[in-house]
Amino acid sequence: MATHAKYGGVVPELASREHLRAIVPAVRLALEQSSTRLEDLTAIAVTQGPGLVGSLLVGITYAKALALVHKLPLIAVNHIEGHIHAVASQNPVEFPALALVVSGGHTHLYEVLYGFVYRLLGKTRDDAAGEAFDKVAKLLGFGYPGGPVVDALAPHGDPRAIHFTLAKMKGNTLDFSFSGIKTAVLRWVESHDLQQEIAKRKALLAVNHRPTIDEWLEVTPRTTLDLLASFQHTVIEELLRRAARSAEQIGARSMIISGGVACNSGLRAAAAASHFPYPVFFPAPGLSTDNAAMIAAAAFPKFIRGDFADLTLRADPNLSLSP
Ligand code: KG4
Ligand code: ZN
Repeated sequence: MATHAKYGGVVPELASREHLRAIVPAVRLALEQSSTRLEDLTAIAVTQGPGLVGSLLVGITYAKALALVHKLPLIAVNHIEGHIHAVASQNPVEFPALALVVSGGHTHLYEVLYGFVYRLLGKTRDDAAGEAFDKVAKLLGFGYPGGPVVDALAPHGDPRAIHFTLAKMKGNTLDFSFSGIKTAVLRWVESHDLQQEIAKRKALLAVNHRPTIDEWLEVTPRTTLDLLASFQHTVIEELLRRAARSAEQIGARSMIISGGVACNSGLRAAAAASHFPYPVFFPAPGLSTDNAAMIAAAAFPKFIRGDFADLTLRADPNLSLSP
């Protein structure tokens, strides 16, 4: 985060360099903390895609080397399937389930059938929801990533202060669009003379990588807090409205909401307040953003089936989860 924050987002070349630097010590530490030796493992699972090709390549090359040297089977995992398993492995999910995967790169709705068979029902046509959080935060001088800061500040504003229109989708009405609200926030900022307060926040970030909420509140007037609260409220409404409609359409017996944006406390509260006729499951906080445990969980059913990859496995930056 410290590497990317300076640039207001993930820089692909820096990300792969950091992966290269971190992968050996991270695996060593994981083995040490779980009192496990490489010889004790039964398989090696690795993310095949989707994602940034440089980072995927580091993981795949290292996983292949470990599998080859230790004569272990190799299992290729889809990153999105990982997010779904971050929830499914910890909760009594019943099928069919509706999965909303909402992160910095995805805003996708899937039907999940018994045996983890997926059907794509809708997706974003432009920005992912997490990307909208990140872009709005960057525009207002809050740095990167934007989701956690907006989440923490939104309760200090009035979510009904500014009315943003909800996206109307032609064609597949289960698709999302977040470019409209992003532009609406930009217009609002342009017409409200915020340069001075934005400069103050950037100055704060320059001397302090991780300001506390009180420090942010000191440089964020009420009108901007209202803007953040209204923005977040609208995004949550877009997400839950389409998730609920999809769930109804497939006769869902449970709902899974996963990915980085699933950390959002406003989203969690709104889902609880909706009283859907099926349980809604969120990942445990530590499993919401990208992590390795969810990749291992998604690999487990493949391990049971003997669905193994070989050394010809290649990174696929656009790997999809369903046709
Ligand atoms: O799943 P993830 O860790 O990485 C991707 O695969 O993209 O998700 C990262 C995204 C970022 O856009 C970040 O701003 C967003 O998740 N995020 C949040 C929150 N925490 C992280 N968005 C809203 N509220 C949060 N509390
Ligand atoms: Zn992710």
